Amino acid sequence: MQQNFIGISENRLHHILGVARKAYKIAKDMGFEEDFCRRCFMLGWIHDVGYEFAENQSEHPYISAKMLLLINEDTVASDLKKPFYKAIKEHGRYPSGMTEEHSEIKITEEYRILNMADMQVDSQGNEVSVSQRLDDIKNRYGEHSDQYLTACDICYLIGLTAVNFAANIT
Ligand SMILES: [Fe+2]
Repeated sequence: MQQNFIGISENRLHHILGVARKAYKIAKDMGFEEDFCRRCFMLGWIHDVGYEFAENQSEHPYISAKMLLLINEDTVASDLKKPFYKAIKEHGRYPSGMTEEHSEIKITEEYRILNMADMQVDSQGNEVSVSQRLDDIKNRYGEHSDQYLTACDICYLIGLTAVNFAANIT
């Protein structure tokens, strides 16, 4: 029986490629060496693959991360690769270990760059400004949605926005 998966649409495919290229470019602009920049490309390339087997939007980062383990569990689960795995698993979500006061957040470069790229490429794969991307999420899910409020928090956390747009919502 066919399961009710969201699946990777044509638009999503363009978004994935756009985020991969944007993550590479951001890492390059930040002065990282070529291998790390390509690692960031791979972050973007893999981050949304879980949509193919996700039944709801919120579970796709976990499925993407789990599928990463299917490639080579031993390599990916090693300490060296951990930030990569965690960035995939936590993209678009709060980093693990974050407290209410946001006081003890450990943000890796992988998490920062993947989310910076994801928040500057729209759902069709076009490069957009952060505020355009946030407006798009607001229009799709609603001003009070978890998706929009979390996206605002993350943009602020990683330094993409100087103020937290979500703080203005009453
Ligand atoms: Fe995603």
